[in-house]
Amino acid sequence: MSLIKEPVVIHKGLDNVYVKESTICFIDGEASKLFYRGYSIEELADHSTYEETAFLLIYGWLPTASQLREFTGNLESHRSLEPEILQLIKEFPAHSDPMDVLRTAVSALGLFDPQPMSDDISVRVAKAVLILAKVPTIIAAFERYRNHKDPVPPKGHLSQAAEFLYMLTGNDPDPYDAHVMDVALILHAEHEMNASTFACTVTASTLADMYSIITSGIGTLRGPLHGGANEAALRTVLEVGDSSKAESYVVDALAQKKRIMGFGHRVYKTWDPRYLILKKVAGELAVRKGQTQLFDTALAIEMSARKHLEGTPIFPNVDSYSGIVFHMLGIQTDLFTPIFAMSRIAGWTAHAIEYLQANRLIRPKALYVGATGLPYTQIELRTGKLEEHRMP
Ligand code: CMC
Repeated sequence: MSLIKEPVVIHKGLDNVYVKESTICFIDGEASKLFYRGYSIEELADHSTYEETAFLLIYGWLPTASQLREFTGNLESHRSLEPEILQLIKEFPAHSDPMDVLRTAVSALGLFDPQPMSDDISVRVAKAVLILAKVPTIIAAFERYRNHKDPVPPKGHLSQAAEFLYMLTGNDPDPYDAHVMDVALILHAEHEMNASTFACTVTASTLADMYSIITSGIGTLRGPLHGGANEAALRTVLEVGDSSKAESYVVDALAQKKRIMGFGHRVYKTWDPRYLILKKVAGELAVRKGQTQLFDTALAIEMSARKHLEGTPIFPNVDSYSGIVFHMLGIQTDLFTPIFAMSRIAGWTAHAIEYLQANRLIRPKALYVGATGLPYTQIELRTGKLEEHRMP
């Protein structure tokens, strides 16, 4: 029972609640459409690069050649890590989850910034670009350290995607692999007011610094219902192992009310357009890498799930194939969500900056249904049970 007398609508999960006007991203969840700043995701995946897309999201327009040169030059100049940050990453336990490493390392970057706070939007953007540049280096350094190897310094003059693959292995990446990583980064760069972007927006609304804003996003992305689903989807494919076992896996999972990872979305009630692009990429990559069994197993799980979920609004999402793509690129499973974060920093930044331009502290309400006026009991008289705190 509530003490509030007027009628109150609780929007559990904040479903269909609008928190601002935006020109960053439009999703038509009924028509399978996604636009960044008005450009369709298909056009961007076909013609753009991650750097160009990040610029588009953060600044609002497609860069000219000289603007793009300046932006990529900025990324390049910030990509290396301070020795103290490298030392910190080296000392993290090797068993740490890379998302925890990323969250802590990004937070630590703020400690080495003599002036992390600024009201100036252009200074905030510059700090976001610095974080965007350093995150691939953080992920790659941890991957190297936990495998008892020294980190590989950035090579320079490589794209964000190619540089990341280079820093992971120390070898120049195959150009096709670098292209696939670039497309994956474009597809993950932005997705309107999802949970992690909302977390970043809430933090921004308090006028906190960019390091805190991005750290909030990383912490929120970590969960299996959001960023973590790509890892879970791949684990399912590996566990099922063969397309002949897909049907029984899906039937059992649904009978036990388990969720099929890589399916379902709060906004898409049809195909996630990113899924359509990544599925094609995954199929091509599987042939090139000789990993068609993995792809066929994923496909068989998808087909069975579609059959058994027919008539529901639960369709495959971006994560049904992203994990497989990263796996075929030779990337460790627990790095998939950090890669998602590395890409999404562009969208997080764009939304935080947009919100700050017409800022209002985000402060929703909770409908109180507990007791009031309880007498304070001395510790020796308490029952230690919840009952005494319930409403009469
Ligand atoms: N498999 C089976 N049933 C499902 C699934 C699924 N993947 N997703 C939703 N449902 C069912 C759910 O059990 C519920 O059924 P019932 O009403 O009988 O209890 C109904 O659909 C509605 O579910 P919901 O949790 O209220 O829906 P939501 O809009 O809150 O959930 C979601 C969206 C993404 C959390 C959910 O679909 C899910 O858990 N999917 C699996 C995880 C996943 O793939 N996440 C990646 C999302 S895309 C990447 C990103 O943006 O982060």
